[in-house]
This record gives sequence, C-alpha cells and structure tokens, in this order.
Amino acid sequence: MLDYDREAASYDATRGGEARAGAAAEAIERLLPPGARVVVDVACGTGIVTTRLRRAGRLVAGVDRAAGMAAVAASRLPGGVVRGDAARLPFAGGSADALTMIWLLHLLDHDTSAAVLAGAARVLRPGGTLITTVDKTDAVYRAGDERLSRARDAHVPQASDALDRVLDVGAGCGLAMAGRTTFAGVGQGRSPRAWGDLLGGTGLGWTRHADPAVVAGLREHLAGLPGQDVPGPDPVYTLLALVKA
Ligand SMILES: C[S@@+](CC[C@H](N)C(=O)[O-])C[C@H]1O[C@@H](n2cnc3c(N)ncnc32)[C@H](O)[C@@H]1O
Repeated sequence: MLDYDREAASYDATRGGEARAGAAAEAIERLLPPGARVVVDVACGTGIVTTRLRRAGRLVAGVDRAAGMAAVAASRLPGGVVRGDAARLPFAGGSADALTMIWLLHLLDHDTSAAVLAGAARVLRPGGTLITTVDKTDAVYRAGDERLSRARDAHVPQASDALDRVLDVGAGCGLAMAGRTTFAGVGQGRSPRAWGDLLGGTGLGWTRHADPAVVAGLREHLAGLPGQDVPGPDPVYTLLALVKA
C-alpha cells in the first residue's frame, strides 16, 4: 500500500480533485437511505468527499488510519475526524445509519477486508447502509488498453473488493445488497505513455510476477499507439449499497 502520510499533500490534485469528489459524493447520495442522520466516512482520506456529505440535520464523521490524511480531513471538518483503523472502528455498535468506504477495500488483503466488512456490520444500526466501491482497480484497467487489461487479469487473483466477494463476505455479516450506482473518476484517464511509464516502474505489483517478455511486449504495444499523450477515458467506478438485516 502507498504511504498515505506522504501522499496527503498531493492526494487531492492527483486523484481528480473536486470534480472526482463531487461525482463520488453525488453517487453516495443516491444510495444513502432517506433521513440518514449519522454517517461515517471510513478511510476518509483528505475528507474531500466526506465534507460534501454534510447536510442540515446529518452528523458526518470521518475516520482514517494515516495521520497525514486525517490532518487534511480535519482541516475540512474541524472536530469531525478521528484516526482509526477500519478493521477496528472506534464507534459504538449500532451507532451509524450509514458508512461509506470510497476506494478502501481494494487496498486490503482478504483477511483485513473481511474484518472491515464485519466491523462495518457491527457499527451499523439494523436497517443501516454500507456504501462501498467494488472492482476499483478493474475499472482503471477497463478504461485503459484492452490488451493491458487482459494481461493484468491473467496475473492477479480475485481482488479484495471484487463484487462477488464483497457480496459473499457481506452476506456472512448480515449485509444484503440494496443497490448500486457508478461515478466517473473525472480526470483520471491515462495516456498510452503514462501506462507505459507505469509498466516500466515498480508501482504495479502484478508485473513482478509476470514474464518480463510479456511486460516488454506490452510496453512496446503501448509505445506504438497513437495519441501518446492523450489521456484515455475516465474510469467508471461502481458503488455498492449493502443493508444490515
Ligand atoms: C485511496 S484513499 C481514499 C480516500 C478517500 N476515501 C477518497 O475517496 O478520497 C485510501 C485511504 O484509505 C486509508 N486507509 C488504508 N487502510 C486503512 C485502514 N485499515 N483503516 C483506515 N483507513 C485506511 C488511507 O490512509 C487512505 O487515506
């Protein structure tokens, strides 16, 4: 996982900024139960999405493990952010009407993501809603090059935030699917050159297990595409709503 303490200063500018945050918050709003009064944004990061969830009569809190991210979030929501681990949420059982998790589960291993889903079920009141992104990294690759996407599929096991897995693990915690929607990762489409640079670096875990000849072939393929510096389409992310029985 990235060092989010170090990411904090550049996070908003490099993750689609206000436009992406606005799209995410609007999508969350479509899935929130009417009248939700206590909403906790888990892994709130810099709070750029969290702050947009505030409404009259609704208490919104953020929690994040990284001090650097939580500090930026606290500047947006004074008094409304705590440092904490999503697998051990610092909130009483049954205390929230809704929990949101934007871009968290895909970062975690299977055991931790299962603990996070169980912890979410504990903090939600009966009838409360968990709203989470699923298939996050898939969305990024699907928006990129098809050949690259297929190569990655062949080298990665099931993601922690795979839709089927979240539904299975959620069912085991008493969370049932209640809806889904999407939002655009505004400004996050990558150009062929940017994908090629990523493949050439160390940031993509799956390339370490791939045949170097396959990776070299992909880089060659990307370098031969037209519009080397033209960003591809924005990824479209899926948000899932799960309701606690
Ligand atoms: C990709 S960022 C997403 C931030 C925010 N939800 C957004 O949409 O802008 C992932 C965040 O998850 C936080 N995080 C990672 N593991 C965590 C954990 N176990 N508990 C709480 N936060 C965690 C990181 O510190 C980081 O702020």
